[in-house]
Amino acid sequence: DWVMKDHIAEAVARIREQVGDEEVILGLSGGVDSSVAAALIHRAIGDQLTCVFVDHGLLRLNEGDMVMDMFVGQLQAKVIRVDASELFLGKLAGVSDPEAKRKIIGAEFVTVFKQEAAKLVGTGVNADGSGRAAKGAKWLAQGTIYPDVIESGGAKTKKAVTIKSHHNVGGLPEQLGLKLLEPLRDLFKDEVRELGVALGLPHEMVYRHPFPGPGLGVRILGEVKKEYADLLRRADAIFIEELRNWKDEATGKSWYDLTSQAFTVFLPVKSVGVMGDGRTYDYVVALRAVQTSDFMTADWAELPYGLLKKVSGRIINEVRGINRVTYDVSSKPPATIEWE
Ligand code: XMP
Repeated sequence: DWVMKDHIAEAVARIREQVGDEEVILGLSGGVDSSVAAALIHRAIGDQLTCVFVDHGLLRLNEGDMVMDMFVGQLQAKVIRVDASELFLGKLAGVSDPEAKRKIIGAEFVTVFKQEAAKLVGTGVNADGSGRAAKGAKWLAQGTIYPDVIESGGAKTKKAVTIKSHHNVGGLPEQLGLKLLEPLRDLFKDEVRELGVALGLPHEMVYRHPFPGPGLGVRILGEVKKEYADLLRRADAIFIEELRNWKDEATGKSWYDLTSQAFTVFLPVKSVGVMGDGRTYDYVVALRAVQTSDFMTADWAELPYGLLKKVSGRIINEVRGINRVTYDVSSKPPATIEWE
């Protein structure tokens, strides 16, 4: 609609005015906020934007390729994909404490991003010996949205008990010597989503459930191993596919849209099963689906039995290595949404 077109034109003009002919770097995570920020900035300044996509190897099935398809294939944006999965798995080896895993993933993420960004900033010396390379990036763009602004302001005064630490990239622009560009700073989540659709991002991507920064790292209980991540990715893709396909008769909506967050958790324990005339001794997964308005409290979703039956049948038949599927019927509180 034209109101949104007006908003885009205004935002584009503001970005062009701010940035001029300077170059911008943006950390693309595949999440909604950074994706919409990237699409908007790309609309404004095209090739003056370079996105850095750090793939920590803990993303969902085909997620990295989908990000590349969308931004490089369709929007023709410049994206540097850093495959850091081996690096992350190495750092996580032997670590099973949830907060320790979060800290490692968060810190490593910043390190890898900074290394890539530093190359683009061109801190080197010009041929004539003068300071910073002329063509280096001058801006760091972030997909900060209005609720993030309030949250980080409030956090200073509020003595909240930290139950789970989140990614914190504060201070990054200063460390890299870059100016901060935050074109979504005044927008609420719904507005960011509408903007994303108006910019041509797929509806399905823009209306996705939230996905934590540490990704599958906190959905594999205890130590993270590649084998576990690969099994989990396949099981989770089946769950999400069936949630999208299964329509509620009363509302016509899919169960994906009727839940606020849904995912699969990998439990590194083995249980006995039977397949054909053989015995199996394989891993267990838990399905988790919740309904919530603020993620502070949440109810487990009363998914239709038929849906659960289909999902468990498909996972056990299609994912060799998993022979048991359970459904998590715990609400928050006292349980949290994620298992770690
Ligand atoms: P919990 O598990 O605390 O989750 O009930 C509430 C919401 O926060 C998300 N979550 C995270 N997001 N980094 C993130 O970016 C994290 O470490 C993290 N831990 C939990 C969770 O997915 C849910 O939406």
